[in-house]
Amino acid sequence: MCGIIAAASTRNVGKLLVQGLHKMEYRGYDSAGIALHQHDSIAHLRTLGKVQLLEDKMIAEKPKSKLGIAHTRWATHGEPSESNAHPHKSQDKVYIVHNGIIENYVELRESLIEDGYEFSSQTDSELIAHLLDLYLNQGSSMLDAMFLAKAKLEGAYAIAAIDLADDQKLVVARNKSPLLIGLGTDEIFAASDPLAIGQLTNEFIFLEDGDVAEISAEAYEIRDKDQNTVTRDITNIDISNQATSKGDYKHFMEKEIYEQPQAVLNTVDGRVTSDDVLDNIFGLGSTELFAKVKRIQIVACGTSLHAGRVTANWLSAIAELPCQIDYASEYRYKNPHVDKNSLLITISQSGETADTLAALRYANEKDYLGSVTICNVPTSALARESDFALFTNAGPEIGVASTKAFTTQLAGLMLLTLALAKSRDLNPRLRGRIVKGLRSLPDVITKTLELKDEILKISPNLASKDNALFLGRGIFYPIAKEGALKLKEISYIHAEAYPAGELKHGPLALIDEDMPVVALAPESEIAEKLVSNLEEVKARGGTLYVFADPSVSIDVNEGALITMPQCDFLLTPIVYTIPLQILSYEVALLRGTDIDQPRNLAKSVTVE
Ligand code: AGP
Repeated sequence: MCGIIAAASTRNVGKLLVQGLHKMEYRGYDSAGIALHQHDSIAHLRTLGKVQLLEDKMIAEKPKSKLGIAHTRWATHGEPSESNAHPHKSQDKVYIVHNGIIENYVELRESLIEDGYEFSSQTDSELIAHLLDLYLNQGSSMLDAMFLAKAKLEGAYAIAAIDLADDQKLVVARNKSPLLIGLGTDEIFAASDPLAIGQLTNEFIFLEDGDVAEISAEAYEIRDKDQNTVTRDITNIDISNQATSKGDYKHFMEKEIYEQPQAVLNTVDGRVTSDDVLDNIFGLGSTELFAKVKRIQIVACGTSLHAGRVTANWLSAIAELPCQIDYASEYRYKNPHVDKNSLLITISQSGETADTLAALRYANEKDYLGSVTICNVPTSALARESDFALFTNAGPEIGVASTKAFTTQLAGLMLLTLALAKSRDLNPRLRGRIVKGLRSLPDVITKTLELKDEILKISPNLASKDNALFLGRGIFYPIAKEGALKLKEISYIHAEAYPAGELKHGPLALIDEDMPVVALAPESEIAEKLVSNLEEVKARGGTLYVFADPSVSIDVNEGALITMPQCDFLLTPIVYTIPLQILSYEVALLRGTDIDQPRNLAKSVTVE
């Protein structure tokens, strides 16, 4: 989604700001822009489409400036266009960039029009520039104007603003949208994503909701929601170039698929002994709290929700706990009943997904024992606002389609399942067996990645189709859903997933020679039943692409039967995810789509 970067420096910042925008391209966007203070005017450049086009414009116009703000926009209010791109301005004096949504924009816009302001975009953001201008004209400093504007704004926002009257300082504000300050030498930055300024500094200050900060090249001042000057902690994070470059891979998604052995190792390492999970790996006091848990509620979105669906099966089988799972976007609206001794679990790669965060905040008002997050970004809002957390340590995931984030979430969620079982003294032998399986998982994933050549043979058959069905049963149904989500989001092929037993209750009508069917057939008590479901598909002309345990036999005619490496049955969902990721990637490659930044999608969904 939208990305903000701002800089006050003793050197020219135009290039730094555009480099920062490039680093945020993975988040998904449709237009980009920059405003650069040039003492007696402000250079204002915007382009529809890729950041490269903005960079080309910069190269042609060569604006010089030591103070500026820049933005990548992901359209919410108003179509993707140059006039809707940020920065927005008021009277050629005040320039702003904004992430989030201003919920009361209609009434504020009307009142500003009555005050004589003219709007040149359809966005909810432009009014912020006019509001600031209004208060500046009444004699406020930019810092005070921002507080006055904040008092009017309802909704989520991260804002950065500059004023023609001041070529030294910029002002930023945060409410429910991520924003941080980066401290350099003789320069200070602000950004919505640490990756945007990770090349420039390792020292970050994460602003809190309500904070407003004034930033110059040499100094910054942060005021909290009550306008008191406050000191916020400086966090050191080394975001190395290696983690954010593709290396020899064609796409970040490809790199991230092949990083999974190491990523899963990073999740498990240091959290288990040879036969059990260590105590308090979710934070001090977590083991004690887990002993009281009688029921689990999971909330998440997209791929993270699929990880939750697998976990619900694990919790029942290993920790003997009932589990309710909801889309984060739905949870608050169903008036949920919270049983005594319930634990809330949120799952999120980014830790900034607005719906998941809103669900956590809603749940914090309810009678939960506590909240645990499984998250990849330790500095995220979800991590900061949860009682306990386990970080997946997957490293930055840049491709919009989640790959290593999902498998590491599953590894983390298995650790959580084991911790809950252990704290309740349940199934010690089973726990020991699974821990061994977790320790050998990186090797099994490495073997699974070697199936690429077999997958390459089948990818043209899917790439030429418009639809696909994914089938799995039991704990593999969420994996089938994840496979379908991967295929649709990066190849734009319509894909659906079903528990195989449901086929004859309707979807079987879709089967013909144009409907490839991808099925997951691990060794399990339901394998035989699944094979019968697949026979039904074959009998109706459907082509089968089956990923199966060596013990499963099925004649697939012109389709393909790909034999999977073996591991502990309860961990096989993690392993069976891998070929589906490779398949989606290779199909998308053949279809020539924008794999790392698929159309209409954003990496971090920070609006509800
Ligand atoms: C998956 O490929 C998607 N990019 C998407 O479904 C994602 O998992 C979802 O938006 C949730 O994001 P989060 O894990 O950062 O909360």
